[in-house]
Amino acid sequence: MAYLEIRNLTKKFGDFTAVHDVTLDVERGEMIALLGGSGCGKTTILRMIAGFTAPFSGSIAIDGKSMAGIPAHKRNVGIFFQNYALFPHMTVFDNVAFSLKLQKLPREQISAKVNGMLELVRLTGMEKRFPRELSGGQQQRVALARALVMEPALLLLDEPLSNLDAKLRVEMQVEIKRIQRELGVTTIIVTHDHEEAVSLADRVVVMNAGHIMQIGTPDGVFDYPENPYVADFMGFTNLFDGTVAAVDGETVTVTDTNGNQFRAHDRFHTGFAAGDAVQLAIRPDNILPADGPGENVVTGTIQNVTYKGVVSRIDVEGVLKDALLHINIHNYDSGKAGARMDAKLPADKLLIYKN
Ligand SMILES: Nc1ncnc2c1ncn2[C@@H]1O[C@H](COP(=O)(O)OP(=O)(O)OP(=O)(O)O)[C@@H](O)[C@H]1O
Ligand SMILES: [Mg+2]
Repeated sequence: MAYLEIRNLTKKFGDFTAVHDVTLDVERGEMIALLGGSGCGKTTILRMIAGFTAPFSGSIAIDGKSMAGIPAHKRNVGIFFQNYALFPHMTVFDNVAFSLKLQKLPREQISAKVNGMLELVRLTGMEKRFPRELSGGQQQRVALARALVMEPALLLLDEPLSNLDAKLRVEMQVEIKRIQRELGVTTIIVTHDHEEAVSLADRVVVMNAGHIMQIGTPDGVFDYPENPYVADFMGFTNLFDGTVAAVDGETVTVTDTNGNQFRAHDRFHTGFAAGDAVQLAIRPDNILPADGPGENVVTGTIQNVTYKGVVSRIDVEGVLKDALLHINIHNYDSGKAGARMDAKLPADKLLIYKN
C-alpha cells in the first residue's frame, strides 16, 4: 500500500474543472515532482491533500486512512505555500517556532530545533528580523524552515525555490534532497522547472490543464516523453510533422512536410503503418554536426548562432517547413550565420508520435 493514495481526484470551480480524474500513488519516503505550466492544477492538488479545500469527487488516503472529513490540522502534513504566508507581525524565529509552540514543546527544545533549521536554510543571524525586512528569497527560506521544522510525515512544497538566484537554488535543491532523505519524509514538490524536477525527484508527474500527461522516472520523462505535450515541456523544441513512408519492424521511415526522410525507432510500441500522420521530436542537444550526407542527415543554412555559455544554440533554416531547426553544440566556433550546415538527427534520439 502506498503512503499517499490519490484516486480519481477531481476539483471543479463552478463549471471549470481545475483537476481532472487524477490518480497517483506516492510510496513512503518517495519524492514526487509535480511539473506543469501555470494554471494546470498543481496548487489545487496540494490544497486538497493538505485539507484546505475539498475534492469534487475522488479520494485521498494517507497511510491507509481516508482523509474525507479530516481537517487540515489533523493530517500531519507540512506545507510550504507558494506565497509563503509568513506571519508579518512575527520575527523569523517566531515564524519558524510557531507550530512547535502550539505543540507546547519545552523552550530549549524549540530553540534548538529552530536554530538548527535556520542554520540549514542559511538564515542564522536573522532570527529577530520581521518578514518585511527580508528579501523575497530569504522569506522563501523562512517558509521552508517552517514547513520542515515539524518533521512532518508528508511534506508538500509549492515552488519552494522559485525566487532564489541560480547558485542558492542549486544549494537549496541539494539541501532539500538531503533533508528529505534523512527524515525519510514522503514529499511532493511543485515546480515549473523541468531540470529542477528531474534532479530532485524519484518520479516526475507532468500535468496539463488538470490532467496527468505522464508519470515516470526523471530520465524516462526527460529522455523519452510519451507524447508531444510532454516532449515540448521537457525541452524538445524541435517538433515537426511528417507521414510514415515505410515500417520495418520497429524502424519507421518518415517523410517530413519538407521532403526530408528520417528513420525513427518505435520506442513506445505504438505500431505505425504507412500513411500515418505523425509528429517527430528531438532535443536540440541531441542533434550532431555531420560531414556530408548520411542517414538522418539534413542540410540547411545557419541563420543565427547564440552563445549561451555551456552551449551555443544554432538556428538552422531550410530544413523544416515552417520552423527553424534548433541545435545546441558545445564549444561551437566553426559556423557563422549564412554558412551551410549538415546536421544528423540520430534515429535513437528522434521520437515519433501518432497524430
Ligand atoms: N478558488 C478558486 N476559484 C476559481 N478558480 C480557481 C480557484 N483556485 C484556482 N482556480 C483555477 O484553477 C486552475 C488551477 O489553479 P492552480 O492554482 O492549481 O494552478 P497551478 O498549477 O498551481 O498554477 P501556477 O503554476 O501558476 O501556480 C487555474 O485556472 C485557476 O485559475
Ligand atoms: Mg500554483
